[in-house]
Amino acid sequence: MLDSFGRNITYLRLSVTELCNLRCRYCMPEDGVPKRSHEEMLTEEEMVMAVSAAASLGIEKLRITGGEPLVKKNILSICEKTASVPGIRETCVTTNGVLLPKLALPLKNAGIRRVNISLDTLDRRKYAQMARRDEFDAAVAGLEAALAAGFERVKVNAVLIGGFNDDEIPALAELTRRYPLDVRFIELMPMCAGDFKREAFISGDTVVRKLPELVAEEPDGTVARLYRLPGALGSVGIISPLSCNFCDRCDRIRLTADGRLKPCLHSPAEFPIKGLDEAGMRRQFEAAILAKPEWHGALSDSEPSRAMRAMNRIGG
Ligand code: GTP
Ligand code: 5AD
Ligand code: SF4
Repeated sequence: MLDSFGRNITYLRLSVTELCNLRCRYCMPEDGVPKRSHEEMLTEEEMVMAVSAAASLGIEKLRITGGEPLVKKNILSICEKTASVPGIRETCVTTNGVLLPKLALPLKNAGIRRVNISLDTLDRRKYAQMARRDEFDAAVAGLEAALAAGFERVKVNAVLIGGFNDDEIPALAELTRRYPLDVRFIELMPMCAGDFKREAFISGDTVVRKLPELVAEEPDGTVARLYRLPGALGSVGIISPLSCNFCDRCDRIRLTADGRLKPCLHSPAEFPIKGLDEAGMRRQFEAAILAKPEWHGALSDSEPSRAMRAMNRIGG
């Protein structure tokens, strides 16, 4: 379905839980989030119904997010049922990877085509400091399990944080020479509840400056600008929501785990669908798509995201 600015909305990001087994400083408060009652959250049946309503309006691509989606007990059933909704051509998962050693193959068998794995550093000590949990080995084993499971594509997401991982840009990019995966560097977005300091922000262009051997590639319709190291098996992507926003190409809408459609990651507008039948959900999807703003508005330390939710309650 076209939004009011002529953009074709074909991609739904479905957050299945607000909970996470890590506490990344840019995303979540140290104490985590209070567990909400089951009645407030979407049921599995409602999620499947919502995906079906979305597909009837032209949504073709589905990405399952969280919190951390793999901590959800019925994650395999959610993936299997939503991936087989008629009209959904591709279902993907974004995860921190910690539970992938056990779940990579079952997810593949449930119909997941691609996985994106968050890994901000290759240093175990720094990982524990940023994620506030010592799960580096599990995340790396998860990445290896994803590569072994035979997904169509595996991407690594690294949020750029000055003074933390800017010295690791070459080492992270180097993964694309050793393994058949893509690495994407993401500009840190100032979210409420996230630990965002102006000094920590580094622009996506830093990656190109630090890696002069990068060769630009044709855009593939995603939010990343693409490059490649000579001879590499995968691409290096730069996602720059702040320095070079991609809102004019936006094709997405989000559904939170508590059943609210968000027209834009950074806008406070929300359209509830919890408790509705499929026709009611479809009407809310239409309203939310038509309410998509032209862009996310200014984003800086003095003008943080107006999303009114921490990142773990949106799903990125
Ligand atoms: P692909 O399907 O592989 O292109 O995945 P993706 O980039 O859409 O999803 P992923 O979950 O890996 O998100 C990567 C990063 O992009 C995260 O930091 C997201 O918060 C950010 N991101 C995704 N969608 C948007 C968006 O609409 N606006 C902004 N500003 N950032 C986004
Ligand atoms: N800025 C940029 N990216 C973020 N993510 C979480 N919080 C932020 C933020 N404040 C990323 C995660 C994950 C993806 C879904 O969103 O690292 O890769
Ligand atoms: Fe779309 Fe909002 Fe993301 Fe911009 S910030 S690309 S409008 S969801």
